[in-house]
Amino acid sequence: MTDVFADVGHMLRELRPAQPVYCIYPQRYRTWTTSFVQGFPGRVLYAVKANDDPGIIRLLYESGVRHFDCASLPEVARVAELLPDATCYFMVPVRLRGAAAAAQQKYGVRHFVIDHAEGIAALAKEIDMPGSVIFARMAVHHESAMSDLSAKFGAPPATIPSLIEAIAATGAEPALAFNVGSAVTDPEAYRYAISVAAGVMQTLPRKLRLVDIGGGFAMPYPGFPVPPISEYFAAVREAMTALPLSEDGEILCEPGRALAAPGLTAVVEVLMRKDDRLFINDGVYGIFWELRLKGHDRYPAAAYRDGRPLAGKQREFRLYGPTCDNIDVLPGAVGLPADIRAGDYIEFSRIGAYSLSGRSNFNGHYSDTIVTIEAD
Ligand SMILES: Cc1ncc(COP(=O)(O)O)c(C=O)c1O
Repeated sequence: MTDVFADVGHMLRELRPAQPVYCIYPQRYRTWTTSFVQGFPGRVLYAVKANDDPGIIRLLYESGVRHFDCASLPEVARVAELLPDATCYFMVPVRLRGAAAAAQQKYGVRHFVIDHAEGIAALAKEIDMPGSVIFARMAVHHESAMSDLSAKFGAPPATIPSLIEAIAATGAEPALAFNVGSAVTDPEAYRYAISVAAGVMQTLPRKLRLVDIGGGFAMPYPGFPVPPISEYFAAVREAMTALPLSEDGEILCEPGRALAAPGLTAVVEVLMRKDDRLFINDGVYGIFWELRLKGHDRYPAAAYRDGRPLAGKQREFRLYGPTCDNIDVLPGAVGLPADIRAGDYIEFSRIGAYSLSGRSNFNGHYSDTIVTIEAD
């Protein structure tokens, strides 16, 4: 149970925290997740890797997410123990030895993925194939994706038919999966990937029931505009009519960022100001680690002084983290009130994806203060 505050001002006045504080806004998660689940024309699996905080996983569940894309046995265990009637999918083509067996025997996992004939043999040693659904993961990348999720995993489309037949030969139900990338900025990418999948499926001697189109739905950040989610859904809805699915066929998606991002903020303290440089108590080894990768370079930011919003004329600042390392600086300049100073706080919003789950304790800096904010 996390501490609950009416708003960030109350939290700051009560705690005046020396450590970064990560704030969960339940209402933001509820509103956004409900509309995502209702808008997507198929089954929504949350990609737990984007944020595995139990409070956030539970909020997504309460908002209608019943299926979870897990990338390891600990992720399966976390979801299954928290939400006994949720369905976990083990959606990584290479797993630790024994992990698939444990996922199935202990947690009843029935959905797995492979991208190579060796993967089918490895699974067959560990799980009951006739009782399982095995996705063949196809490589398909689009240039509008910030990160390519087909470089490491995924079989060439031409090899998918033989993988599907090899899966069927084990008695498992074959299915198809692909990932167009992460932070995909053009909905066209889904139209393209689904059309490649349709082409492959037309050559199969059997109809598939399940096609998993992966995650990748982008979120807007300052300086990183993306189309509204409705345009992604429209592209998917239109393209999926070409998929030769069986009568009870269904498409699945695995959004991580799009569900995790909206409802978390990070509140950090300004430790020192040197002209247009601010030194803060969190950095790229902490909550901002994703900014080290290609993609967006900052989050929406608002300043507080004495627990109240700080307004006034803005100027741009470079923000430096608390470690000794030179690269511990946020890549994008951030607009903040020109008279901001040490002792003020900055709240970064829409920071729920690829933030909490990858922070490190490099240089001994690590905050685990996670609170709930009731305001919208
Ligand atoms: C297999 C798989 N599914 C889903 C996702 C989630 O991607 P995103 O957060 O871009 O939606 C990823 C991200 O790495 C992934 O590797």
